[in-house]
Amino acid sequence: MEKQIEKLLNDQVKFEAAASMQYLAMASWADENGYNGVADFFYLQSEEERLHMTKLVKFINERSGKVVIPSLEKPKSTYTSINELFETFLASEVFVTQQVNHVIHECLQFKDYNVHNFMQWYVTEQLEEEATARTLLGKLNIIGTDKSGHYLFDRDINMITSAKE
Ligand code: FEO
Repeated sequence: MEKQIEKLLNDQVKFEAAASMQYLAMASWADENGYNGVADFFYLQSEEERLHMTKLVKFINERSGKVVIPSLEKPKSTYTSINELFETFLASEVFVTQQVNHVIHECLQFKDYNVHNFMQWYVTEQLEEEATARTLLGKLNIIGTDKSGHYLFDRDINMITSAKE
């Protein structure tokens, strides 16, 4: 594998790991503030990102690349509202999508169709995750600061989490 591609895949390991820790911090904040449904959603999301990270680690090893397990910045752990949680969620997913697209673009420059093929799984995953984040943030934008709306949102988000489990 080209060193540049190996580096990009390792960068992607870091982005997925950072998303996992970010969502764990968000789940914990939600738990602490009485939003148990939102907490469960982000605990699960955090697990999913960890799996995305591990999938990359295994792939780099399969291709005889050198994996670099990264150190991470401390994630943001204080939020003003669940609206802010979901704004952060969408921004994080948009960022990860941009990075996935960047890896794919570089694969084509180096004619590494194997990595290109592997990364298609991430393209599909990002499409789903961005759509989920946009839908939920859209609902929260309708709710605004209404506390009873937040209560119902927290109750109803269980349907998404249960469907994924
Ligand atoms: Fe695996 Fe949603 O980034």
